[in-house]
Amino acid sequence: MVDTRFFPGAHKYWHNGKLYDWDSHIVHVMAHVVHYGSSVFEGIRAYDTDAGPAIFRLQDHLKRFEHSAHTLNMKMPYSIEEITDAIKLVMKENRLRNAYVRPNLFYAYGNLGLVPKASPVELTVGCWDWGAYLGEEGLENGVHVLMLPWRRIHHTQIDMHAKLGGIYVQSNIGATFARQHGFDEGVFLNLEGRIAEGPGENIIIVKNGALYTNDVTESILPGITRTTILELAKDLGMETHIQPITVEAFLDADEVFFTGTAAEVTPITRVTDARDRNQRPEEWKTYTIGTGKPGPITRQLAARYADVVRGKIPEYREKWLTFVYKDAEEARQYLKDVDVERVTKF
Ligand SMILES: Cc1ncc(COP(=O)(O)O)c(C=O)c1O
Repeated sequence: MVDTRFFPGAHKYWHNGKLYDWDSHIVHVMAHVVHYGSSVFEGIRAYDTDAGPAIFRLQDHLKRFEHSAHTLNMKMPYSIEEITDAIKLVMKENRLRNAYVRPNLFYAYGNLGLVPKASPVELTVGCWDWGAYLGEEGLENGVHVLMLPWRRIHHTQIDMHAKLGGIYVQSNIGATFARQHGFDEGVFLNLEGRIAEGPGENIIIVKNGALYTNDVTESILPGITRTTILELAKDLGMETHIQPITVEAFLDADEVFFTGTAAEVTPITRVTDARDRNQRPEEWKTYTIGTGKPGPITRQLAARYADVVRGKIPEYREKWLTFVYKDAEEARQYLKDVDVERVTKF
């Protein structure tokens, strides 16, 4: 049996057109991806609505998936429609109401030269009920982040619009370093010394009622949640600006928050500065953002986002939600008696 503590509700996954028990392992240890991180993936969420679970901005995620595959010279073995159907099928098979959905395309077993000329491209889809990425407590009361001593990989080095598996090793190192020192999450600066992003999150700051965030030219993955929040903010009449964020502007902001599919809208309320590699942790300085509590604009946008993803606001429901079941009745039939425990922090 594999340990499913961190995958609540996961019973089946999909691999190249078939469903498998979560317990079965079918990737060879000599698969190209295991050695070189030659994969592309998406992180997508589905939320329960009055018509059953709906996947948020699925088509935008799959467009990015296709772009990522292209970046790694992969031929997509399945069409967007087929992947959409596979995701719905896995959601149904696992009888999930809320889910994190993870499609992954990778170079499988064939050869181990750097050019995967004999390694086929394979697709898996898994989903499980993943609670708040930075914890319910962080979502509600804000997180304490560490400005990391390593600079984010630069946008001139790789196409940062793509979610490439191997690139995430830097996120892994940064996120682990922050947690090992007792922080909730890390923040990378870019090579220019300005704010880039979190290991799996974008950053938005609020000053005098306006929102400011950076873009790909500041070495970030331009996230789908980030554009969602910018659009919601504009629709609420807020001013938004895309421009570089200096460390000074970040520390001096009225409010700061992370955006991401996993992290949703998570307030950042404290920042510790570990930029200088020569400093020992006792020498790191800590700063409070604004009042030290999640601010009113962060709260307003987080609440709006929570409503939008759950289909409570008609104009966005049409535009951004893909329903897993035909209608509320079909969802009710499939999902009666389902109650899945959630993990709250990874
Ligand atoms: C490095 C990085 N930045 C930002 C994001 C946020 O992107 P999105 O809002 O599309 O999930 C993610 C998550 O996908 C990420 O991995």
